[in-house]
Amino acid sequence: MLEIRKYGDRVLRKRAEEISDINGEIVNLSSAMVETMYDAPGIGLAAPQVGFSLRLITVDLTVGEDPSKLFVVVNPRIVEKEGEALDEEACLSLPGIREMVKRPYRVLVKGYNLDGKELEIEAEGLLARVFCHEVDHLDGVLFIDHLTPLKKRFAIKKLKKALALR
Ligand code: NI
Repeated sequence: MLEIRKYGDRVLRKRAEEISDINGEIVNLSSAMVETMYDAPGIGLAAPQVGFSLRLITVDLTVGEDPSKLFVVVNPRIVEKEGEALDEEACLSLPGIREMVKRPYRVLVKGYNLDGKELEIEAEGLLARVFCHEVDHLDGVLFIDHLTPLKKRFAIKKLKKALALR
């Protein structure tokens, strides 16, 4: 199990590196991420959230109930966005807060699986939201960054309280 980095950790604000070689370390990291995500429990996790500034994400809306629904994506990119949806969002790195965030309703995600094969994933609704949230993490963006300045200020206040930060 890996330690989940929380708000205030600088790794969450860095732009993560592209993965040029899907070697054993990357495969091991992705399994550890999946375990950590299921244990949390969460429906998505990005490598920077466990301290690795690499472009790697795991997503599973079933939290392990259905193994066929697990996505492990190397160097994911959102290549198409369509529509709009407003829904509540939370993040394992931002404990104690949930806020409404506007996201595209449908996205097309491209990237690679652990065999280096190119992936194309069409996602809508909650799945599209999770992909957008996780790809944001790879660019150092947190969901609170999508809030209005006032809401963001309140959210950070709450967050700092939950994390006992000053
Ligand atoms: Ni998150």
